[in-house]
Amino acid sequence: MTELIGAIDQGTTSSRFLIFNRQGEPVAEHQTEFKQIYPNSGWHEHDPLELVSSVEGCIAGAVKDLEQKGGDLRNIKAVGITNQRETTVVWDTRTGEPLHNAIVWTDTRTSALVRELKTRPGFDALQEICGLPLSTYPSCSKLLWLLEHIPKVKAAYNEGRLAFGTVDSWLVYKLNGGPQANVHVSDPTNASRSMFMNLKTCDYDNQLLDFFKLDRNKLHLPKIVRSSCPDSYGKLVGGTLAGIPITGCLGDQSAALVGQKGFEPGRAKNTYGTGCFLLYNVGEAPVISKHGLLATVAYYFDGKPVYALEGSIAVAGSALKFLINNLSLAKDSREINELAAGVEDNGGVVFVTAFSGLFAPYWIDDVKGTLLGITQFTQKGHIARAALEAVCFQTKAILDAMEKDSGHPLQRLAVDGGMSNSELCMQTQADLISIPVDRPKMRETTALGAAIAAGLAVKVWNNIDELKDINTIGGTIYEPKITKEDSSKMFTRWEKAVYTSSGFV
Ligand SMILES: Nc1ncnc2c1ncn2[C@@H]1O[C@H](COP(=O)(O)OP(=O)(O)OP(=O)(O)O)[C@@H](O)[C@H]1O
Ligand SMILES: [Mg+2]
Repeated sequence: MTELIGAIDQGTTSSRFLIFNRQGEPVAEHQTEFKQIYPNSGWHEHDPLELVSSVEGCIAGAVKDLEQKGGDLRNIKAVGITNQRETTVVWDTRTGEPLHNAIVWTDTRTSALVRELKTRPGFDALQEICGLPLSTYPSCSKLLWLLEHIPKVKAAYNEGRLAFGTVDSWLVYKLNGGPQANVHVSDPTNASRSMFMNLKTCDYDNQLLDFFKLDRNKLHLPKIVRSSCPDSYGKLVGGTLAGIPITGCLGDQSAALVGQKGFEPGRAKNTYGTGCFLLYNVGEAPVISKHGLLATVAYYFDGKPVYALEGSIAVAGSALKFLINNLSLAKDSREINELAAGVEDNGGVVFVTAFSGLFAPYWIDDVKGTLLGITQFTQKGHIARAALEAVCFQTKAILDAMEKDSGHPLQRLAVDGGMSNSELCMQTQADLISIPVDRPKMRETTALGAAIAAGLAVKVWNNIDELKDINTIGGTIYEPKITKEDSSKMFTRWEKAVYTSSGFV
């Protein structure tokens, strides 16, 4: 009998449920997209109830898939959760109902608020404690915005019945049945993205909460527990998997690092999904970046927490979705690739895909998406190619910053995520960073990471050494094919484009 582990992957554009065996192979899965809500320019919301129902639908779909393939759901020992990070949900502790749509991590409505916060006394001390530079990206300003603008939220706060959570916390709460069980927890990889958590203690920090003027007697914050834990996350109460314990929880980027088995200091991975995120394992002490990167928790299993340096890029695959959905440039991302591959180069076009400002290592919030270098010569293919290249340029900028912060150049970049399916994008990436790019055969590494966290807690695997053979065969290596000189010429043009587009807003 083979033991199985389920993994909920609640992403920015889709939810998934995958079932893995002990060899780390997905044996069944189901995925659904859900509604993206854009109420104003720069605003981005999700319906919290739809996030839950999409996850429940995926669990049902994957279980059906398992049974159709002759599998037995009684072999599922535990479930892990991985999720889009920073996205902010607020609910009423009495009813368990959300008090507003979730504000998504990409949302920039708080840019004025953030500018104001930067002038508050105590601002300079924040990054040293929580690892993140203040921007619209973490959860803190999203929560402050809700308190300031939504009377229902403010009233719940004043009456001591306002619960805050990132998506992991919300899902765990609802999947446990809501207010009855009242399981309100989060793991450090998620909690560290709120700007409320002290990176070293992995607990809330009064200096941070005081800075944001939040009163813990009025606000219910999730209890921070380890990412892999047999008894803190409760269990599923409904559906075909009712009774199965939830034993693992990791923010999606941490999960991908775990799924790539980036367990030693110096290991890094880059995930090209809706956005793109490079995480570099720095070991058991956090490294506060001097070059525009984030310090974050990689995972906290047993023993000590393990930390990472992170380079966050807000827009990756979402640029392709924009070309497809908003401009009808192509019908899907495969066709974007065909268009891009149909031209020799970008034809002089640079696409600064700053739909949410620019994140790492630039942190420029007064920039919006900008296409530069268009002439009568420009074809669709050039724009498609520039969209693929944009994420590769930003990854190059992040690797340069990472080298300065860590003192070590990376030897090889492990990749995954939807956009890593693009051969052209991965070759371009290798060309621009002048080191090999290593893409595994099984690219659902985010879900695999959640399964690993859950499986370790219930001893499906006894330790991380038992994971060493997982997903090692059948990958692809992209070697750099252009000279460093040519690569640096392309990069210089990108940097010029970034500074040309800045200050427009
Ligand atoms: N062949 C392809 N070439 C280029 N891009 C692709 C290809 N296939 C998928 N993508 C892009 O990958 C993205 C989806 O990636 P992925 O499935 O990793 O994201 P996700 O998990 O839904 O999002 P996230 O986890 O970031 O919320 C889409 O934006 C899509 O445009
Ligand atoms: Mg994902």
